[in-house]
Amino acid sequence: MSLPDPTPENRAVVTGASSGIGAALAESLAQRGYSLILIARRTDRLRELADQLTSRHGVQVEIRAVDLSDRRERADLCAELSDRDIAVLCNNAGFATYGELAHADPDRERRQVELNSVAVHDLTVAVLPGMVRRATGAILITGSTAGNQPGPNNATYAASKAFANTLAESLHGELAGTGVQCTLLAPGPVRTEYAEVAEVPNLDRMVPGPLWVSAEQAAAQAIAGMAAGRRRVVPGVFAKVQTIGGQYTPRGLVGPILRTVYRKVK
Ligand SMILES: NC(=O)c1ccc[n+]([C@@H]2O[C@H](COP(=O)([O-])OP(=O)(O)OC[C@H]3O[C@@H](n4cnc5c(N)ncnc54)[C@H](OP(=O)(O)O)[C@@H]3O)[C@@H](O)[C@H]2O)c1
Repeated sequence: MSLPDPTPENRAVVTGASSGIGAALAESLAQRGYSLILIARRTDRLRELADQLTSRHGVQVEIRAVDLSDRRERADLCAELSDRDIAVLCNNAGFATYGELAHADPDRERRQVELNSVAVHDLTVAVLPGMVRRATGAILITGSTAGNQPGPNNATYAASKAFANTLAESLHGELAGTGVQCTLLAPGPVRTEYAEVAEVPNLDRMVPGPLWVSAEQAAAQAIAGMAAGRRRVVPGVFAKVQTIGGQYTPRGLVGPILRTVYRKVK
């Protein structure tokens, strides 16, 4: 299995391209010669990255300022993408909240589910029929190690990423033999704007420096994993340990342990 060849007409789509892993995925794909459609809310960031990628790699870069947690804005984007020749879709935009759900802002929690789960499903469903018809295409879904087990004090995020993780791995199996592939990127701690957006400055102090992975490392491994047709990419040693611990520790134990850890995060 390999990635579809970039052509002047086809596009690689990256959501959450205005920072972190998404910006690094866009750079990696542009390096491979893909023209891009970059999606996020911050137009200035998208424009700046688009100009840099065009001048560095000679690719065309379109930008779409879309709030993917908004169903109406998302519907217009999905309608456009379902009519385009999309070779690669990186479903990457997402954010987390920490703290007790009983005290959380209900609107922010709902938008988290919309972005991390429902938008991933909508965008995938929009491009998948065209990919299967053309018998070529690659989808990346950025889930998380947080989606492998219950996450007390991080409940909405853990649940939304469990959806993302399971969707990606289910599609990986379902698409075998179609020419289309789906890969899960399930990172642990990656140095991005994630902690700032989640309002958890303690995270930086709690996870020792060497255990962090850079956005560039995560993106490079994700693209290499897609090119190799892999089911799941888990960048870095710490994330691999988290994955094994989360999947094989009895749930009765892992829940209380993570509750204690996440209470220290926020
Ligand atoms: N960093 C980590 O430790 C880590 C670990 C595991 C999984 N992940 C996952 O990795 C993915 C990328 O996150 P990151 O670490 O790169 O964080 P980041 O630097 O905060 O990037 C998040 C991206 O998502 C976009 N985004 C947020 N809300 C959006 C909305 N409503 N509509 C459209 N775009 C939106 C942001 O752009 P705008 O603000 O401009 O809209 C930004 O481009 C997320 O799915 C995250 O859950 C991260």
